[in-house]
Amino acid sequence: MDSTIIGVSKNIQRIRELIDQVADTGLNTVVYGETGVGKELVVQNLYQKSNRIGKPFVKVNCAALPDTLLESEMFGYEQGAFTGAERRRRGKFEQASGGLLFLDEIGDMSLPLQSKLLHVLQGGDFSPLGSEKTVKMGAWVIAATNHDLETDMVNGDFREDLYYRLSTIKIHIEPLRKRPDDIPYLIDHYVKTYTAQFDGKQLLTPSQQVIDKLAAYHWPGNVRELQNVLKRLMILGNGEDSLDDMLMGPPARSRDGELATVADQPPSTAEFLGFDLHKPQDLESLSLKKIKKKAMDHVEKEVISYVLEKTGWNRSKATKVLNISYKTLLYKIKDLGIEPPENPADKS
Ligand SMILES: Nc1ncnc2c1ncn2[C@@H]1O[C@H](COP(=O)(O)OP(=O)(O)OP(=O)(O)O)[C@@H](O)[C@H]1O
Ligand SMILES: [Mg+2]
Repeated sequence: MDSTIIGVSKNIQRIRELIDQVADTGLNTVVYGETGVGKELVVQNLYQKSNRIGKPFVKVNCAALPDTLLESEMFGYEQGAFTGAERRRRGKFEQASGGLLFLDEIGDMSLPLQSKLLHVLQGGDFSPLGSEKTVKMGAWVIAATNHDLETDMVNGDFREDLYYRLSTIKIHIEPLRKRPDDIPYLIDHYVKTYTAQFDGKQLLTPSQQVIDKLAAYHWPGNVRELQNVLKRLMILGNGEDSLDDMLMGPPARSRDGELATVADQPPSTAEFLGFDLHKPQDLESLSLKKIKKKAMDHVEKEVISYVLEKTGWNRSKATKVLNISYKTLLYKIKDLGIEPPENPADKS
């Protein structure tokens, strides 16, 4: 399989350097990045450049299995360790001995399993379930995640000691929208790949105009989404209409990756309520009580205004529809700042 890392951005250049520097060291590494950004690709590159190539490359997906299964998958078990354990099974940790153990989606691992993993990393050995023996842990451990583990740590979702144990080296892959210069190179690479792959089929090559459009798009699914869009474009057509159908929502981000203001786009509920979930420094403003009050006020104001408008500001009718007392309605109108229309047809 082709595992060339394509790209010319600073971020990708730095990652190539890091891979060369780290590959032979066997230092524990965490690869960070959004979904589809190339985390597994980076891990494969680390392996291929290391002196462990030819030794096992063992991947454990920490998000794919419930806790007990994940535990037995990692550590293995003896015959009879639990009902259904008909014969001994080597765990992934043992299989990876001398090679590379890739813990994918480490941010999704439960706290109890995090403790067990930490124990293994500290002691260098472990016992399969139901076994007295200890097995030496001789693998190079690389983890990947789309979580921000430092935030998870602050929130108590990720063990601090495990974080420091795992992340001697940190490799952060930026989302594609923050490195748009890579997009034309990726397109070129995948156009060649698919032309070879769909040998004999008449494929369309994206025009410069389409490439420009793709380079300006915000790519929430990153390189994986780019691959899918390209494949469909090359097979189904090059037209702008079909392209717009394939891209999710408006290209609402500027080239530096920040959300651009789109005039006719309604604000998100969070934005409306005055807090920004992308700014962790706003933690003080996240009083649930205050937010609830604000949200309730907003909903009440909308509903009461609507009912008043529909009843032609007939307050008695409105109280019946809203199922509240006349006094409450008057109070709400004042408190929520509900304005009557220019010529209120006040029939109450
Ligand atoms: N810089 C790149 N050059 C070439 N191909 C890339 C690059 N980045 C990602 N890809 C390709 O994009 C696809 C998705 O990458 P990968 O599976 O490594 O992402 P990931 O970060 O592990 O995603 P997820 O979080 O969903 O597991 C793969 O086919 C990979 O080869
Ligand atoms: Mg992955």
